Amino acid sequence: MVSEIRLYTEQEFHEKAQQYSAVLSSRGVSVNIELIEKLNARFLRLNPELSLCVDADGLWLAANGMKMQPDWKAEVGRLKRASLKSEMIARACNLAEKPQLVDATAGLGHDSLLMAHLGAHVTLVERHPILFTLLEDSHQRAQQDAFLSSVVARIELVFSDSADYLKHLSTTNQIFDVVYLDPMFPQRDQNQQAVKKQAQVKKQMQLLHLLLPEDGEMDLGDNLLDLAQKIAKRVVVKRPRLAVFLANQEPQHQWQGDACRFDVYFQHDLVT
Ligand SMILES: C[S@@+](CC[C@H](N)C(=O)[O-])C[C@H]1O[C@@H](n2cnc3c(N)ncnc32)[C@H](O)[C@@H]1O
Repeated sequence: MVSEIRLYTEQEFHEKAQQYSAVLSSRGVSVNIELIEKLNARFLRLNPELSLCVDADGLWLAANGMKMQPDWKAEVGRLKRASLKSEMIARACNLAEKPQLVDATAGLGHDSLLMAHLGAHVTLVERHPILFTLLEDSHQRAQQDAFLSSVVARIELVFSDSADYLKHLSTTNQIFDVVYLDPMFPQRDQNQQAVKKQAQVKKQMQLLHLLLPEDGEMDLGDNLLDLAQKIAKRVVVKRPRLAVFLANQEPQHQWQGDACRFDVYFQHDLVT
């Protein structure tokens, strides 16, 4: 996992950059701030290595000339079009019931933003210190947005490894309606056609892959299924369409889409 990273910013945002740097350092990431004249597309092309940047858009990640940010404001159009009927994730997670839900693999938080918009109360767990700090920044900025503020009021962020967090919920007898899992999956196995349709999503995933360990050592999250089943009445696992089952465990139900599917595991004996 990245524990040292360069941060580019212009003089105007130096103080803000120092604040992010202090937060990241408290989470074990050492940041080297570099003041530059102009943070623009040309600069990013000339400096393709993985780095953080701070400007009027807040904190974001850059690599290979690309920008990545859990840009929740950019999701507003998609949220406005979404409905309980049109979204497969809504049926898989039974969002009509406004569940108490743990998203144990937050990433950019886009799935959770949609689920919170459709009524879920979400606890969003991420263990990567840089991703978590990016999420926290997006969450704070969304609180100032007229449309998003009521959505993010239903999202609570937790910086933890989900294995530890789920164990804690289990030992303190806390039962949730849903645990949602979308662990990393080696990119080569993803459905190519569907990925093409989502070029922007693909770019963001490439950057996510740069932050996380190499494919060989990638933690595929198999350990989370068993832990999730101890504390949730329903565990929903998002998978690339043709991927193997998480922990090789066959689900009781599946929702199949073009690009991905949702495998669902029910624990009927758990009660809140
Ligand atoms: C594929 S991404 C999730 C994408 C997310 N569904 C979205 O909509 O943006 C997987 C994320 O889960 C995180 N993750 C994987 N295992 C985890 C664990 N045990 N605890 C906390 N976070 C974990 C990774 O750091 C990565 O950010």
